[in-house]
Amino acid sequence: MSRRILVTSALPNANGSIHLGHLLEHIQTDVWVRFQRLRGNPTIYVCADDTHGTATMLKAEEEGITPEELIERVGLEHAGDFRGFLIEHDNYHSTHSDENKYYCELIYKRLKDRGLIFTREVEQLYDPERNIFLADRFVTGTCPKCSSEEQYGDNCQECGATYDATDLQDPRSVISGAIPILRISEHYFFDLPQYTNMLTTWLRSGAVQREVANKLDEWLKAGLRAWDISRDAPYFGFLIPGTTDKYFYVWVDAPIGYMASFKHYVETRNELTFDEFWDAENSTEVHHFIGKDIINFHALLWPAMLDGAGFRKPTKIHTHGFITVDGKKMSKSRGTFINASTYLEHLEPEYLRYYFAAKSNGTIDDIDINMTDFVQRVNSDLVGKVVNIASRCAGFLTKQFDGQLADRLHDEALWNSGTAIKDTIAACYESGDTGKAVREIMALADRTNQYIARQEPWTMMKDPDQRDEVQAVCSQGINIFRLLVIYLKPILPQMAEKAETFLNVAPLSWADLETPLENHTVNSFEPLFARMDSKALERVVEASRDGDEEDDGGNAAGENGVENTAGESAGETTASIEIDEFMKVELKVAKIVAAEAVKGADKLLKLTLDVGDHQRHVFSGIKAAYDPASLVGRLTVVVANLAPRKMRFGVSDGMVLAAGPGGSDIFLISPDEGAEPGMIVR
Ligand code: 2FM
Ligand code: ZN
Repeated sequence: MSRRILVTSALPNANGSIHLGHLLEHIQTDVWVRFQRLRGNPTIYVCADDTHGTATMLKAEEEGITPEELIERVGLEHAGDFRGFLIEHDNYHSTHSDENKYYCELIYKRLKDRGLIFTREVEQLYDPERNIFLADRFVTGTCPKCSSEEQYGDNCQECGATYDATDLQDPRSVISGAIPILRISEHYFFDLPQYTNMLTTWLRSGAVQREVANKLDEWLKAGLRAWDISRDAPYFGFLIPGTTDKYFYVWVDAPIGYMASFKHYVETRNELTFDEFWDAENSTEVHHFIGKDIINFHALLWPAMLDGAGFRKPTKIHTHGFITVDGKKMSKSRGTFINASTYLEHLEPEYLRYYFAAKSNGTIDDIDINMTDFVQRVNSDLVGKVVNIASRCAGFLTKQFDGQLADRLHDEALWNSGTAIKDTIAACYESGDTGKAVREIMALADRTNQYIARQEPWTMMKDPDQRDEVQAVCSQGINIFRLLVIYLKPILPQMAEKAETFLNVAPLSWADLETPLENHTVNSFEPLFARMDSKALERVVEASRDGDEEDDGGNAAGENGVENTAGESAGETTASIEIDEFMKVELKVAKIVAAEAVKGADKLLKLTLDVGDHQRHVFSGIKAAYDPASLVGRLTVVVANLAPRKMRFGVSDGMVLAAGPGGSDIFLISPDEGAEPGMIVR
């Protein structure tokens, strides 16, 4: 019996472009969806843009357009980017839609009727200049726990503490820079703690990965809190029924957007009904793919809201980790904050689809893109192993045998070894361990290449008595190639389509693994997959780089700064490192013995540092913040073992540490008095 499945990826925010983080998730989802379809399970994949909230409102304002205009433009852009990566959403909708409004109001009404909504007065930070309540991401200040400056209103990036925005010291509005005031307003709450038992049971039903269940268990044990579901005007969103100035918090209507997109899809289709997938009791499946930063919304609030409103709960939440590039978080200054459209200008989508699949293991571990490995992996696996089998065998078959395949398998054991792995590969796809699936597939490709090398059809060809043997060997190669294509089809749909044309077969499915092609004619071989050019990848990085050489030089302030847009999803959270990695960084106390402006550079100072046993030069982008003369004699901290960097103005030998967003807001780090140049900082 086939399964009937509805699948979603997290809804991208309508205030930014699609980047590698989104692509990881949508590629993982698309691969899973295509795998289900290949197996004969009818699967619908929907998504939408997440359009509401303060960030959209402000972005539209900044551009001088209405939020509606903004979300329409961005929605089209996003859908185009996804198509470019061969991601096959059945419907790409918007949370700013009639369907979404309808289901928001319906769910709210049902929760209210069941006594699950209450109001309470909340004291919140308010921007008196812009007349707007400040969401956590729109206020910064000093962490109440560790005193780090420039921290957001919800948690500290330095010490990891979570707190309320009202606990921040010296808070500032990100929007206007004004000092926020406290203001009271009435908020609407959903009584989440009522669902503690239901959630505890649901989480153990296989609905989330094991490590996710463990994390959520901790939260459940610590006790759930009622959830604030309203925001005050001005806000871009849906009004809460019965109010004139209270809006549903964007995180209420975002997941409901999954339902809305599905509703929009079924409206034009007779064979399906909304209820078949969303009624509390049914045998269909709903799968959500998300990043680990939004687990709480999907695995606590969403199932509770659904249950409270009499709808079904998700079958499974598939959670992935963040992306790092060459071990570091994506960065605009390094050119590793790569947008979908920039990538597509230079490279084929299937390279990234393959690399992400090869690196995914179905856990919430972070996934590192290593630029060198990326190119090597694609070329050696796909071109060197898979396509190589077809191109080696096809030549003989078309030239010598008119494309006619033999009527027998030459090496049945090799064929059996190729089909014997099908259940393992299927299980890997199902659990998201596509890395293991790829390893199994490539091992089969290796065995096949070894087989061809052993048989040496090119030598046999010289002996007319061995013609049949050559045909049989090459047919065997083509047959295993066909198995590889079936196995890889969810990851490489375009390559599979070209292979189907070459093989002269109808679209391949999982069931085709059962029977080899015999007595069949293949078409002439056309190249299936071009080698990935490392230069093209370099061009992608170059085109993604933001800021000139100066921005990257000398100074640490803002160096890793991926601009953090409120509510942005996967891929932008700090990558954690092990202690031994950190220990590789040699930090030393340095004394600034000379400081001077650099001719022709707007932001740089040239510092001469005494690091105990020698002096060295460092270029630092702190000119806007310091008069050079005021720095002389001052102690600071230098990254002493940073590889020297050649800059336009000379070599920078190390990097001094400074905090702050940049410009004139840069604060050089200094040790307490008494520290000596050359002392190790730990
Ligand atoms: O984190 C994000 O980018 C959100 N826009 C995801 C929303 S997912 C769902 F709930 F809509
Ligand atoms: Zn802190």
